[in-house]
Amino acid sequence: MTRVITYGTFDLLHEGHYRLLERAKELGDYLIVGVTTEAYDKARGKLNVIDSLATRIENVRKTGFADEIIVEESPGQKVQDVKKYQIDIFTVGSDWTGSFDYMKDYCKVVYLERTKNISSTMLRVQNKRIQRIGMIGTGRIAERFVLEVKLVSGISAQGVYNPHKESAEKFAKRWEIDSYEEIEEMYEAVDAVYVASPHETHYDYIKSALEHGKHVLSEKPMVLKKAQVEELFQYARAHKLILFEGIKTAYCPGFNKLLGIACSGMIGSVRNVEVCFTKLENPGHRELTDIRYGGSLTELGSYVMLPILKLFGEDYRDIRFDAIRGENGLDLFTKISFCYPNGIATATCGLGVKSEGRLLIAGTKGYIIAEAPWWKTSYFEVHYEDPQKVDKYSEPFLGEGLRYEISDFLSMINGRNSSEFKLTRSESVALADIMEQFLKAEGRL
Ligand code: CTP
Repeated sequence: MTRVITYGTFDLLHEGHYRLLERAKELGDYLIVGVTTEAYDKARGKLNVIDSLATRIENVRKTGFADEIIVEESPGQKVQDVKKYQIDIFTVGSDWTGSFDYMKDYCKVVYLERTKNISSTMLRVQNKRIQRIGMIGTGRIAERFVLEVKLVSGISAQGVYNPHKESAEKFAKRWEIDSYEEIEEMYEAVDAVYVASPHETHYDYIKSALEHGKHVLSEKPMVLKKAQVEELFQYARAHKLILFEGIKTAYCPGFNKLLGIACSGMIGSVRNVEVCFTKLENPGHRELTDIRYGGSLTELGSYVMLPILKLFGEDYRDIRFDAIRGENGLDLFTKISFCYPNGIATATCGLGVKSEGRLLIAGTKGYIIAEAPWWKTSYFEVHYEDPQKVDKYSEPFLGEGLRYEISDFLSMINGRNSSEFKLTRSESVALADIMEQFLKAEGRL
């Protein structure tokens, strides 16, 4: 009996998949099909898979060619599977020619000709019109964003607006996108807007984009006043538009894994969270010269408050701010202390004082530690009373990590709300509320 194995995502099962499975089956007597998990697809950069694992397995089953279906969840699994299932032939489509030659040490490798003019990517794009995104702002974050948009299928950077015409033109030329002299021109050309302008301008831009019927992805902090963020969410909801705060950590797979473990009981009940993120900033930069809206908290506060709000919620009993200020009064190093009925937390951030960036979550049975750059979570450890016992977890974090939030934003635009829990509206409201309390206490609002 000849045993054959093949692998794939099999998203939106199409004729190319069907023909591949048919020919794979003809290569032998018994066909095993490995279907990839969502997590594995994300880890290898395949974002925006539409069908769930269960649907994809069911669709493969329905073709009638698979004698057995297994799940592929990690790199290196293929060789193990070949040994485990005593495989004679490994096969995949010709788009992979050469990639699996290393398997020849274990079995025969056959590359089957790929069916032309069809792919899941094509179908994803056809099913949903490509969302064209217009960008407001041309700073460093906008540069990272434009690069990462290219990696998510179903969305494309259409153009850029900046009231400083020359900056917009320069940016547009560099990234081969359009530039607009008037913001109205941009609204006509796009479906969604990315707001990456200075903090204090976010509210007006978001409002006007929503009023023009556009979905909005705003850089953090979305706005600096509680009432404003509530108003914007209300407007978006009433007009069936997506308003999304882009705190990249909230959407990255490693951070979500860490939260899952923190809430799983593995470390008991969470009682203390200590978070720190510092980034020494050039004293001449806007972050340290904008005496109204600059400073550590507006710049980095969203990151350090995120784990605390995710783990303890928004109903803190007490909050206290301590800051070290520069000559112009801006906070160079800021500590927020939270008291909750069942726990305490501190969020520390700094642009002018360097400290060890880390996230520490202490529970009644153990603690989780993620070292810098924990905000791009790719590795963390769980420790217990017994110092010999350490559980280690890692999860890929690709590129600048904006691709994860862009992919979730797109899913929401396309009507799938399964990512909404990663940063809820009320968490965004709580973040704005805390920023407002701080700025008021500093006499800046
Ligand atoms: N395949 C094929 N012909 C196509 C598309 C896919 O033979 N037109 C094969 C692939 O070579 C692979 C298997 O089907 O062996 C599963 O591929 P998968 O990556 O799931 O499908 P794609 O359509 O290529 O998906 P995507 O566009 O997301 O990369």
